[in-house]
Amino acid sequence: MTESLLILRICSIMLVLGFSEAKMEIITSKPDVLLGENAMLLCKAGGEGEITWQKDGVDVEDDQVENVDETSSKLFIRNAKMEDAGRYTCICEFESHTERIYYTIFVYERPSFGETPVYHEFLEGQDVVITCVVTGKPTVEVNWKRDHQKLHSEAGRITRLKDNSLQINNINRKDHGLYTCEAKIKDRNIFEMINISISVNVPPKVNIHEEVKKVTAGPETNVSLSCLVEGVPQPIIIWTVPESSDKSRYKYNSDKSELIISSVVRSDYGEYICTAKNKIAESSAMIMLDVSEHPVAVLSQKTMELEPGQTLSVSCNVSGHPMPTLQWVRKTNNDHLLTVDAGGGRVRMEDGYVLVIDNVMPSDGGLYSCMAISPAGNASTDFGLQTWPGKASQVSGTPGPTSVLFTLGASLVDGGSPITHFTLQWKTGRENNWQERVIQSTDPLVITDLIPYTSYSVRFAPRNHLGQGGFSDELTVRTQGIRGKVLTRVEKL
Ligand SMILES: *[C@@H]1O[C@H](CO)[C@@H](O)[C@H](O)[C@H]1NC(C)=O
Ligand SMILES: *[C@@H]1O[C@H](CO)[C@@H](O)[C@H](O)[C@H]1NC(C)=O
Ligand SMILES: *[C@@H]1O[C@H](CO)[C@@H](O)[C@H](O)[C@H]1NC(C)=O
Ligand SMILES: *[C@@H]1O[C@H](CO)[C@@H](O)[C@H](O)[C@H]1NC(C)=O
Repeated sequence: MTESLLILRICSIMLVLGFSEAKMEIITSKPDVLLGENAMLLCKAGGEGEITWQKDGVDVEDDQVENVDETSSKLFIRNAKMEDAGRYTCICEFESHTERIYYTIFVYERPSFGETPVYHEFLEGQDVVITCVVTGKPTVEVNWKRDHQKLHSEAGRITRLKDNSLQINNINRKDHGLYTCEAKIKDRNIFEMINISISVNVPPKVNIHEEVKKVTAGPETNVSLSCLVEGVPQPIIIWTVPESSDKSRYKYNSDKSELIISSVVRSDYGEYICTAKNKIAESSAMIMLDVSEHPVAVLSQKTMELEPGQTLSVSCNVSGHPMPTLQWVRKTNNDHLLTVDAGGGRVRMEDGYVLVIDNVMPSDGGLYSCMAISPAGNASTDFGLQTWPGKASQVSGTPGPTSVLFTLGASLVDGGSPITHFTLQWKTGRENNWQERVIQSTDPLVITDLIPYTSYSVRFAPRNHLGQGGFSDELTVRTQGIRGKVLTRVEKL
């Protein structure tokens, strides 16, 4: 216990003594001296002695030294050169002994980038080298950063060359931006940076979804033509449109990549060329706007009233795009369509658009249709031919005592206009003139008020608002007798 206390005390004394004896020190304004600047080292000996200076073990020139008094000395470095860097020793010869103290001076030249270009413009796909020309002493370390982050090499693509340049192979638009070349004096916190801005240009490229756009003209039809453009700098877009199209209806979106035409008409048909242009190049693509028009069929007249034997001639014009084909058809009662052909028949199509019927017959009456047929759709317009009704065929008569009821084995030909009346005729074998009566078409087709047990010739003819058709073939029927009265009548006859 006492032993160790004693040792501690001795150590303390030695420390105090040592401290007082090693009072020598070198004071300087800056340890790192910029090339060309002045610096001064002040050596305080802490006691009287003879002070001398050495640099790297060699005595320094006298003119660099100024002894202030017996206890301190100044060493001047004027217009510092690289060679001035080194270990300086202040040596003080005291009466009893000599002491030394060391100080290391670092001389440097600030990093500088000289003629290093601060702006580069490249074309995408190029292999490029970005230089960083650095001067500075004694040794400069160069680091590349991008967006304040250390720039990472990419194997085979982004590499550092020996001369500190950065090589980027197959540069792409994502490589654009601000790069920083940072130059640092080795082992010192002395650095400089330069910002190098890199632009990567990309020639314009135009993408089009549909090369052909098909629409049908109409007030409701709006068409949008899109042109997707890539490129750096952002290309401007120019549209070249067909002469015939009315540009006042055009609308564009903000960058003109979309052209909207409202209420498309046939004259909007044609080639729309989208051209994208930047300072590198221009590129274009074409969209074909195919505007079809719904067909229309127009008749010279909607209906015609003709007497049997006359000639019908009615024309039909069709329009649309593509040009529709024209066809005349006959519409039958059960909605069948019979094509009227162009042959030399009585019912025919002439010159491709005129419906002609020679020697009109009651059976020609009815509806015809002019049809315009095109891939854009079909259109048809009806034409009505009205003439007299036809003579009834397959007629049979069923006698009662005072009546004959007609029965039709085939439907009546109305001549294209509803039958309104029937004219009924009858006569006995001895009469020359027909007796007749006109009945409504809604009435039963029956002759009444005949004499029983008598032979009659009977016939009838249908009528519509144009005229009366022919009479049916004469039928001879004999009325039945009235029970109980028949004989008397027979006797009278
Ligand atoms: C480099 O750019 C950065 C970011 O824009 C800026 O903060 C910095 O001051 C610039 N440095 C130099 C040396 O121009
Ligand atoms: C077509 O465009 C017009 C004008 O821009 C607009 O009023 C109309 O609603 C559009 N029609 C359709 C079917 O989109
Ligand atoms: C049909 O077209 C011709 C020639 O274009 C024209 O002269 C005629 O008037 C038109 N007919 C109808 C019914 O539109
Ligand atoms: C148009 O008419 C043609 C011939 O009659 C027919 O084949 C086609 O289906 C029709 N098209 C339409 C859209 O009605």
